[in-house]
Amino acid sequence: MSDFAELILEGKSYKLPIVVGTEDEKAIDISSLRAESGFITLDSGYKNTGATTSAITYLDGEEGILSYRGYPIEELAEKSSFIEVSYLLIYGSLPTAAELDAFSKRIKRHMLVNEDMRKILDGFPSAAHPMGILSALVSSLTAFYPESLKSNQTKDEMDLSMIRLMAKLSTIAAWSFKNSNGQRINYPKNKLDYCSNFLHMMFSDPTEDYEVNPVVVDALNKLLILHADHEQNCSTSTVRLVGSAHASLYSSVSAGISALWGPLHGGANQAVIEMLEQIKADGGDSKKFIAKAKDKNDPFRLMGFGHRVYKNFDPRAKIIKKTADDVLSALGIKDPILNIAKELEQAALTDPYFIERKLYPNVDFYSGIIYRALGIPTEMFTVMFALGRLPGWIAQWKEMREQKEPIGRPRQIYVGENTRKYVPIEER
Ligand code: SDX
Repeated sequence: MSDFAELILEGKSYKLPIVVGTEDEKAIDISSLRAESGFITLDSGYKNTGATTSAITYLDGEEGILSYRGYPIEELAEKSSFIEVSYLLIYGSLPTAAELDAFSKRIKRHMLVNEDMRKILDGFPSAAHPMGILSALVSSLTAFYPESLKSNQTKDEMDLSMIRLMAKLSTIAAWSFKNSNGQRINYPKNKLDYCSNFLHMMFSDPTEDYEVNPVVVDALNKLLILHADHEQNCSTSTVRLVGSAHASLYSSVSAGISALWGPLHGGANQAVIEMLEQIKADGGDSKKFIAKAKDKNDPFRLMGFGHRVYKNFDPRAKIIKKTADDVLSALGIKDPILNIAKELEQAALTDPYFIERKLYPNVDFYSGIIYRALGIPTEMFTVMFALGRLPGWIAQWKEMREQKEPIGRPRQIYVGENTRKYVPIEER
């Protein structure tokens, strides 16, 4: 195969280099196109456009493959822990026992947040959505750690910023939940592992400490691993774009949290449960809602279905669906909306509308059912997604800075008015 693509524009030939990735993915490098031809490309939603080369995550949408640094997601979900996967994503290799212990201890050491952060938290009304609080409090870390604003941080300074964020996000997330409930916040306990500590901060109260349930901890570890990275999705692209301006890691991740909040992205896990509850309240007729989802005049969408990349099954959805069954039976929970979800899935997977458009359950379709079984309230579901995605955002931001990528600044094609003269207001 030629190493170049040939483009004929207005009778002139242009040769554009072809880039081939580790898994034989191919791209045409158009970085010289505008300078040589005056043409740009146009691709609304970047459905066919690569923003970067990356060594962190590989996914194949047709084959339903997902791997972090070369390790298949199925193996990591089964055998690893969220902290170990976070190390893998950020530093590129699985840690030795000593490295993992040191990484885990560094995170524990930084889990407390400056007490002044409570004043910011107290300023939010209890009705504030935890995602809004999370984005604001992460951005406020720049106030407590102004050295994080340096665009020429040393390797150690950048590493400390990353460790602080890995450590403090779970505390901030749990505190945002307590705030929305008007409950007293809990402080982390260093004797607990990451997931147990988060559950303790979420569910302990002054009358009694949360009793760690290994089934819940295992399910949470798995969910966080499955959400840890997903190459150039909307929120990760946001983190990379904001970071390309040499904005701090905290500012970049704060922007990523806001992007994830969107119901078409990470906000879908909350929207799925709200949709299933709506179907249940409406009498449980899943076929009626399938018809609504297909009706172009009806804004209703089957939340948790469809994906920009996966045009077959989302490998994470398969693992989460099995985990949902395992967790509910282990906890002895009978959740009627799980049955509605399964009916919906079966109805959709046999319906030509969904088959033709390759719309399958995605990572968000079953995750909310597990979070609910773990006692996590619906408004916290997207916060859980952010907690899982954090090591991916950090790894991607670090890669973008290490690759010394230029500031992201897409072009456009102007379709507005031709040049016209200003008309004084009295003459309009
Ligand atoms: C995540 O990118 C990532 O990796 C994201 C993510 C990650 O880990 O970071 O995987 C996490 O965001 C998962 C997606 C969660 N969102 C939802 O579940 C919301 C519901 N899904 C959709 O809104 C939609 O499927 C998207 C946003 C996920 C993908 O949208 P695309 O790729 O832009 O596709 P599209 O909107 O152009 O849809 C193509 C066709 C359209 O019909 P036609 O115009 O061709 O007739 O499929 C239809 C759409 O109307 N369609 C749906 C549908 N999703 C797409 N119809 C009904 N219900 C749906 N859910």
